[in-house]
Amino acid sequence: MNKPYSLLAILSLLLLLACRPSIAGETLYSLCNFLGGDYVDYNYCVSTLSTNPAASTADGHTLAVISVNLTTTNATAVKSRADSLFLSSTDAFIRSSLLNCSSLYAAATPDLHSSATAAAAKNYSGAAAVLADVLRVPAGCDQGFQKKEGVASPIRKENNAFSDLATLAKAVNNYMAQ
Ligand SMILES: *[C@@H]1O[C@H](CO)[C@@H](O)[C@H](O)[C@H]1NC(C)=O
Ligand SMILES: *[C@@H]1O[C@H](CO)[C@@H](O)[C@H](O)[C@H]1NC(C)=O
Ligand SMILES: *[C@@H]1O[C@H](CO)[C@@H](O)[C@H](O)[C@H]1NC(C)=O
Ligand SMILES: *[C@@H]1O[C@H](CO)[C@@H](O)[C@H](O)[C@H]1NC(C)=O
Repeated sequence: MNKPYSLLAILSLLLLLACRPSIAGETLYSLCNFLGGDYVDYNYCVSTLSTNPAASTADGHTLAVISVNLTTTNATAVKSRADSLFLSSTDAFIRSSLLNCSSLYAAATPDLHSSATAAAAKNYSGAAAVLADVLRVPAGCDQGFQKKEGVASPIRKENNAFSDLATLAKAVNNYMAQ
């Protein structure tokens, strides 16, 4: 007669499940932990995605959409930064390079929207492919300044921040594509 034992087993299993943190709540940490083994810093992953309050309870799918949304928002912010630096600069070379940056980031916006649409439709590999293309934008922007010796990119910090965000979003979407 092992019936009471199986009942006990079921009860302890239920208790165990009830005591676990929610599966959804674990996703941000397990996802970032997995990516952490790759090339995305764990703390950067958690803190960046957490700038969206929904991230802590989001599933992998929603985290993929959030990561692309953050990248899209940042592209607009970097474009604005390039525009304001353009307005405050008096150097013709720097001004033309900043204008180039501004148009590169502006051109990335529709691409990022299509990446967000793809992620929302669970077309994660499509979303990641677009992000891989968009990663050329910060590099291309900085390259413009390298054409003249002794000129430092005034927007390198922003380019690097955008590059990190797009890399994170690409990694999240590649993870979801598996
Ligand atoms: C992502 O951005 C789109 C467009 O702005 C918005 O409709 C959607 O709610 C956002 N999704 C998440 C999970 O933040
Ligand atoms: C987004 O863009 C702004 C302006 O370029 C930048 O300063 C900021 O660090 C970026 N945000 C994130 C979350 O990386
Ligand atoms: C997936 O997304 C990519 C990039 O937006 C797109 O080119 C492709 O057609 C999409 N595939 C499907 C099956 O929707
Ligand atoms: C503008 O950006 C492109 C994109 O990569 C870059 O190759 C080019 O050198 C830049 N042009 C100027 C004038 O800065």
